[in-house]
Amino acid sequence: MNAGFYQDRLRVKGAVLAPMAGYSDAPMRQLCSEQGALWTVSEMISARGLVHGGENASLDLGRPYPGEQNRVVQLFGDDPEVLAGASIRAAEWFGAAALDLNMGCPVPKLRGRGGACLLQTPDVAYRLVTAMRGAVPLDVSAKIRLGWDHNRAVELAQGLAAAGASLITVHGRTSAQKYTGEADWDAIQAVAASVDVPVVGSGDIQDLPTLQRRQQGGVAAVMVGRGAVGNPWLFAQARGDPDRVPDHAERVQTALRHARLNVQWYGERRGLLQLRKVLPRYFPARPEWRERLVQISTLPELEHLLMGPPVRGAVSAPRTGYDLVRS
Ligand SMILES: Cc1cc2nc3c(=O)[nH]c(=O)nc-3n(C[C@H](O)[C@H](O)[C@H](O)COP(=O)(O)O)c2cc1C
Repeated sequence: MNAGFYQDRLRVKGAVLAPMAGYSDAPMRQLCSEQGALWTVSEMISARGLVHGGENASLDLGRPYPGEQNRVVQLFGDDPEVLAGASIRAAEWFGAAALDLNMGCPVPKLRGRGGACLLQTPDVAYRLVTAMRGAVPLDVSAKIRLGWDHNRAVELAQGLAAAGASLITVHGRTSAQKYTGEADWDAIQAVAASVDVPVVGSGDIQDLPTLQRRQQGGVAAVMVGRGAVGNPWLFAQARGDPDRVPDHAERVQTALRHARLNVQWYGERRGLLQLRKVLPRYFPARPEWRERLVQISTLPELEHLLMGPPVRGAVSAPRTGYDLVRS
């Protein structure tokens, strides 16, 4: 199937869309892929849920959008047999291009069930990677933090590579730090220099100058999370097109497109509720829109805010896919 996926994608310079629970869903992945993300990573998915939890191929978190490619599915869990079973399902149900093991999520609900806890029990993590590799003919990667409460990332990365990981992503903070302080890119660089497999660096890339600086820091690629919310153009810039800067009209069109994709994916109510936190990020120069954007509940309301009221008798008042479907 697809072993060698990462090496293949890393032949060109660019950036990767980070897994982000509540954000890196199908609509966001589609917009970022269109702008040239090297690959995208799904929100984390419970391995146990896939194997024992009554989940199926229609799970929103895993289901690809039509035609989706280059999408890595991230799994969390702590049992090798369960991870092996979940890997098979992620490959079959979701068309994963590769699999990623979550070793960085610090939220308490994962405590004792994988995520960042694996930073304290690396031997378990190594067994999980080996089990995943044995279950499917796909690349398996792991996404770590520097450690639980101190930096032991070099040791972890070397162990993971020996266990069969084809790539390692490092978020340059410890789990104890959660999202405070700054990501330590010197530590990420030290990991990259210590293993034979490619290392992707993650943490605090919000703009092009930072991205370009990090691209030169010895990593195989950079990963962008929060900085990509409302800014998919960063991926085109990362591919070497620094002038790919959207004007206001393109921001409006992209925000509307994101909204329509969300409505198709989740339905209007849920889709727009979920997008409320994202919409203001498309319009940093329009703080006066913020209050209304975070209360949007219908597509016509959003269209009205972004494009103004429809002009009576206008020959080419913009029509939306939504209007066409409804009329
Ligand atoms: C809202 C949110 C959700 C996240 N969910 C995940 C996740 O599901 N799996 C994971 O490995 N990392 C997750 N992360 C961590 C990101 O992938 C990334 O490593 C981190 O945010 C640092 O990168 P950034 O500064 O570019 O956002 C999440 C981060 C945020 C802010």
